[in-house]
Amino acid sequence: MHKILRLESVKKYFPVRRSIKEVFHKNNQSYVRAVDGVSLTIDEGKAFVLAGESGSGKTTLARIVLRAIEPDSGSIIFDGHDITKYEGSKLKKFRTNVQMIHQDPYNSLDPRMRIMDIVMEPLNIHEKSKSKKEKIEDVLEALEKVRLEPTTDIADKFPHMLSGGQRQRVSIARALVLKPKLVLADEPVSMLDVSVRAEILELMRNLKDTLKLSYLYITHDLATARFIGDDVGIMYAGKIVEVGPIEQVLLNPLHPYTQALLDAISEPKVHNLEKEKIIRIKHDETRERPKTGCRFFHRCLYSMDICKNEPLLSGEEENHYVSCFIYPISL
Ligand SMILES: Nc1ncnc2c1ncn2[C@@H]1O[C@H](COP(=O)(O)OP(=O)(O)OP(=O)(O)O)[C@@H](O)[C@H]1O
Ligand SMILES: [Mg+2]
Repeated sequence: MHKILRLESVKKYFPVRRSIKEVFHKNNQSYVRAVDGVSLTIDEGKAFVLAGESGSGKTTLARIVLRAIEPDSGSIIFDGHDITKYEGSKLKKFRTNVQMIHQDPYNSLDPRMRIMDIVMEPLNIHEKSKSKKEKIEDVLEALEKVRLEPTTDIADKFPHMLSGGQRQRVSIARALVLKPKLVLADEPVSMLDVSVRAEILELMRNLKDTLKLSYLYITHDLATARFIGDDVGIMYAGKIVEVGPIEQVLLNPLHPYTQALLDAISEPKVHNLEKEKIIRIKHDETRERPKTGCRFFHRCLYSMDICKNEPLLSGEEENHYVSCFIYPISL
């Protein structure tokens, strides 16, 4: 299987702003370890879901892939090329191949622009040699792909004349107009009405199949992720703690954190029946997250002394990896 994206030990720490008092006392600079050594691969034509709670580093990772921010270390291999240090025209060319769909279909479209111009914008930046006529054709083709029809009527409208679902289709059309190979979608349906979420997911899934598109699909909602995802990586505190085919991970979650995430979306009925067993997470947010060893240590019901060491991702079943000392293979 051809790999469209491969990340190797990608790291990004953000310095925490110090107070004047801390600077005066020459306290050491501290860092938010937003992305802390992530490796993953996305197969061509597949959707890789990145799931995890708020602040786990999902968006930071997507911005690193886009080359919107520089990683401190690690490499980004796109379509067989190491693009980590690309600059100038090479970087520009790479950027046509990777596009982002944002969470908010209300704020991400300029209200003063017609849909035609919104969708054409990436062509004006990246395809300067194309004639106006060719660009218009490309825009209409993109609108057709996202089923915004009749395309010429829609192209004439302004964003406020469209529904939330239609606006998100416009965002998708804008992402597709350059015919990218990889689309990064950061919570693309979370701001939409529940009633239109399914149709947008369905559209994204169809596009994946018909255009052989690959996705990095970011969410903290594992229930909807299942609809689009082929593989899933569970992120916690800047690290991927479990990764594998989505059905396998969801049916047989191995990491205590993945189990807790899945408990959160399971039937409330089950909670009442087996409360003791189901609530598997300690609510001890007051203690600082450990900087070494398993980052989930203080919240895990199974933590042991050995968990103060760094757990590594290792294979339990085929293609299903977990970083947890419960499983002897990580030792
Ligand atoms: N530019 C920045 N400067 C400093 N800290 C940052 C910056 N961007 C992100 N962070 C921090 O890095 C951590 C990861 O943030 P990130 O936005 O990647 O999380 P996320 O998983 O996308 O969360 P959410 O689900 O809320 O979108 C957070 O602690 C955040 O405060
Ligand atoms: Mg985010």
